[in-house]
Parts: sequence; structure tokens; C-alpha cells
Amino acid sequence: MSATFDVINPATGSVLNAVRDDGPAEARAAIDRCVAAFATWKAKTAFERGDVLRRWRDAMLRNEDALARMMSQEMGKPVTEARGEVRYAAGFVDWFAEEGKRAYGDIVPSHAADKRLLVMRQPVGPVYAVTPWNFPAAMVTRKVAPALAAGCTVILKPAEQSPLTAIRLAELWVESGGPADALQVITTSDPAALSKVFFDDARVRKLTFTGSTEVGKQLYAQAARTMKRVSLELGGHAPFIIFADADVPAAVQQVMASKFRNAGQTCVCANRIYLHDRISEEFSDRLSTAVKALRVGDPMNEATQIGPLVDRAGLDKVSAHVDDAVAKGARAIVGGHAGEGLYFQPTVLTGVDRGMRIMEEETFGPVAPLIGFCDEADAVRAANATPYGLAAYVWTRDLGRAFRVAEALDYGIVGVNDGLPAAPHAPFGGVKDSGIGREGGRWGLDEYLDVKYVSIVLPAGVSS
Ligand code: SIN
Repeated sequence: MSATFDVINPATGSVLNAVRDDGPAEARAAIDRCVAAFATWKAKTAFERGDVLRRWRDAMLRNEDALARMMSQEMGKPVTEARGEVRYAAGFVDWFAEEGKRAYGDIVPSHAADKRLLVMRQPVGPVYAVTPWNFPAAMVTRKVAPALAAGCTVILKPAEQSPLTAIRLAELWVESGGPADALQVITTSDPAALSKVFFDDARVRKLTFTGSTEVGKQLYAQAARTMKRVSLELGGHAPFIIFADADVPAAVQQVMASKFRNAGQTCVCANRIYLHDRISEEFSDRLSTAVKALRVGDPMNEATQIGPLVDRAGLDKVSAHVDDAVAKGARAIVGGHAGEGLYFQPTVLTGVDRGMRIMEEETFGPVAPLIGFCDEADAVRAANATPYGLAAYVWTRDLGRAFRVAEALDYGIVGVNDGLPAAPHAPFGGVKDSGIGREGGRWGLDEYLDVKYVSIVLPAGVSS
């Protein structure tokens, strides 16, 4: 029997299940199968691939509750939120089942009377997809659905904390008529050793990764050895700028949705909340009231809004950020401490300033740091003063300012009066240390297609 490793329920600390602990030998065998499957999967029409993808989408929706419960148990997301994630995940499959049919080519006007210049788009080849624990279903389908729609085959390595949802999604793929070798899941407790096999194998043509900037940079360097295409969706440090003319109650509601979704464990969560001096008091009062009312508890309970953090390392980082901020002069006006087990109290910090760790590093926890400002240019400068560039948010009723600030922010995504901009049909991704490439929409399909240029010289015609 092969080795296994345990999957732990972060809410209870108990062992939920055990999964295969794959190593280099299993990785090599999976690559052989993935390469063989590529030859037949890419030969199918986009319509045939779309049919299978649509059946997969339907299977996910039929299994919404079971998938949501599995997710909630393996990584602590409240079950009501997890149901929303299943629908979000199915949305990517739905979108790409159709978008695969629109992988159009081009005919380029020719410079020579006897030449015709064609551009076609073809699947890049076998893909190695590495997904995070914070969205165990949606980050899988955001990568896998466009890859399969384009004609690529995929080996998926889910995070050690949340492999069960990925395994179940691959089973549903097969139950929907998808070839088993076109989507394989490989699970391991030693990602570095396993991933090396993929980086050394030139037959694997693409790496797609969502996770930390630190790991993303290492994978990017390793992928260069065999010159793979790469998409990297890495960390963020989202500024949320609220101007004096903003609709403050609506802004509070959206900060709650952005900041406390998944207990603050998303790459696009508000990480620095900049408040114009004129609305700062009203905003912090309203936010504090809303944060105090959050229901923290068992993620399987329908009423819970905040579950545990995913693991001890995650909790320790959140505690360290709050302790550092408080030691340097910030004040916790709500929360401020860890609870029992892996829980951290939803927290609001005032008096936050540059030089505090929370202003520089991604916190990934339920902590809302508030910072004052009085001038638009200063707010934009402060928002851009970070190596990250994933998502930023602006709250104003002034249309001119909305455009000016959205254009000036060095980010891949800007929400204007919108705390939840992500959608399956829109581009998602960052600039600077937040990564390379885009997922979602037609941009998400491009990541799995190579451009091939075909130049044809027409043989001289034979006149009859
Ligand atoms: C992420 O945190 O990486 C994904 C967030 C989203 O899709 O909204």
C-alpha cells in the first residue's frame, strides 16, 4: 500500500481523512499518461470538449451541498460561503465550455500577391496546475476549465490542507464522461520534491500556480529550465480608499464583504483601509458595530460567518501582525487576540501607519487596519507604495475621481464602489509581485493557447 498523509479539520483539529502521499515516481507516471491523453483530447473539437465540460458543471451543481461541506471541513470556510464557492467554481466551467469555441485565428493582410498569412491558436500542451487551499474548488476550475477547453491535459496538485475537494472534482469529471488521464490529481506532503519532476520534464509545457509570492518566484525560476509558459496568481496587499464623498454605509458593507470573506484569507481581501479624514469617525464607528456583530464559530453551522484560520502558521502570522502593530502604536478597537484553537477574533485596528508589518505583508486574516488621509494624490501614492499589485478599491461618487484614481493605481484589478469585482468572465490577476498572466474570461483561455503563424506561398496557377 502506498504512503498517505492526513487531512486535518481546522475547526476541530481532528483527522478528516488520509490521502495518497505521491512522490517523484507517481509524478513521472502521471506525466506519461497526461502526455498520451493530450494526443487524443486535443484532437476533439471544441464542441465535443464543451459538452463534457457542461456535464461536469451540472455534476458540480448537483453535488453543491456535499462539495460545500467537504470544503468547509477541510479548510474551515463557513458552509454557506462554501456553497457560493461551488457556484462560482461551476461558473468558470460554464464560461469556458463555451469560450473554447471562440479560440479564433486570424488572416493577416499579405505583403505579397502570392502569399497568404494565417494565424492559428493551438493548445500549449500538458499543464501542471498548483492550487491553493483558500478556494479548494474555484481555484481548481479557474485553471482547469480553460486548459481543458483549449485542448490541454492537466495534472493538478492541490494544497496539502485541502486535497479532498480537488479529488472529488476529478471524480465528477470522470463521471461526466471526461477522460481520466486528461485531468489527474496528484497529492503530496512534499511539494518541492514532486514539483521538481515537472520542472525537469520538457513535455510539460505550462505551469499555472496560485499561492504566495515567495513560492511563486521559486517556481517561476524553476520553470525556466524547460522554458514553460507560466501563469502566476500571487499575493496581494489591497488598498481600499474611501473618499469623503463616498456612500459610507455602502462602503462599510463592502469592506465587510471584502475583508471578512473566508476569514480574511483571500488574495484580494482589503489589507489597508484608507479613510478620508472627514468620514473617518463615521466609518470606523459603523465598521466596529458590524465587526462586533460577526458570528464566529463552527463553519458547519449555517449561521457562522467567520470560521477558523487554516492552520497554526496562518494563525501565528495574524497574531504577529496585530501584536507588532499594537506595539508600534496602533489600537485594537474591536478584537485583537486569538481565540480558542485556530480562531482569531475579527479585529479593527486604528492608528495604523507605515513601518508596521501589517502595512507591508499580506496578513491573510480577519483584521481591518484603518489609516487616515486628507489628499487624493497622497492616498494614491500610499496605495501604490507596495511591491504587490493585485486588487485595489476606490469609493467615491465623483466620476472624474473614479477614473483618475482607477487609472493611477498600479494594480491588475480595481473595484470602483465594488468590493467583490471577481467574476468567471472577467480578467483576474496582478502586476508587479502579484504575478503574471490573467485568469477568467477570454484572457484566461489565451493562457492555454499558443499562437502559430502559417505563411503560405501559393503555387503558380495553371491556366486552362
Ligand atoms: C483569491 O483569493 O485568489 C481568489 C479570490 C477571488 O476569486 O475572488
